[in-house]
Amino acid sequence: MRKPLIAGNWKMFKSLDQVGTFADDFISRVLDIENTDILLCPPYVYVQSLAQACEGTQVMVGAQNVFWEDEGAYTGEISALMLKSIGAEYSIIGHSERRQFFHETDETVNKRLFASIKADLVPIVCVGETLNDRESGKTFDIIGSQIRQGLEGLGSDMADTLVIAYEPVWAIGTGKTATPQMAQEVHAYIRTVITGLFGKEIAQNMRILYGGSVKGDNIDSLMAQDDIDGALVGGASLDAASFERILRFKG
Ligand code: PGA
Repeated sequence: MRKPLIAGNWKMFKSLDQVGTFADDFISRVLDIENTDILLCPPYVYVQSLAQACEGTQVMVGAQNVFWEDEGAYTGEISALMLKSIGAEYSIIGHSERRQFFHETDETVNKRLFASIKADLVPIVCVGETLNDRESGKTFDIIGSQIRQGLEGLGSDMADTLVIAYEPVWAIGTGKTATPQMAQEVHAYIRTVITGLFGKEIAQNMRILYGGSVKGDNIDSLMAQDDIDGALVGGASLDAASFERILRFKG
């Protein structure tokens, strides 16, 4: 059985004060939730204070990106080792906003993936098609190639903690969600690709998250799908009550 993972991606939102207020409120709301892994990914600058606020609870903290070198003259970058040392346990890699605005490619996704694993951060590798890809019937080709290239060189021994997030680009921040059936179809395809790469056991154990306008009113039907093992939540994770509702999904 795959334990669901629900991750909040705060993107570039919140002040330090707001992070503190959120943590106080949120942690007390979700302390009893045991059957789902809970992850918060704030901007880098809040990883340490949020990890401290969550210490002793089951709420985990992750980063929204990592750089692939351990250290060096790379002005403005943050390494996976640094993030691990301040309390991060996960890292989001290859988010479509990184691909769209910061020239992220499957090749750089691959470098960040290895750096994360080396630093003992659990990678959440994001894949997803654009509206144009979908309308021209290329969804599976695009997703398949993002996975094969993003995970290139990864051995089965390193793949067991990996998480994949399917985020159709046209559904992120737009209010348009893939229907549960559309999402399930792609998740099942991703599991087939993973089976081809790493074998059935790893594929059956791998968590595949859905992301793109996940809210309290669509999480239940998404989580009811066989191959949807959690969610990567942007906007609706910024508010403690709305994120709590998502964590208390039924399905
Ligand atoms: P959204 O973002 O929930 O605001 O659509 C999801 C994401 O980008 O991970």
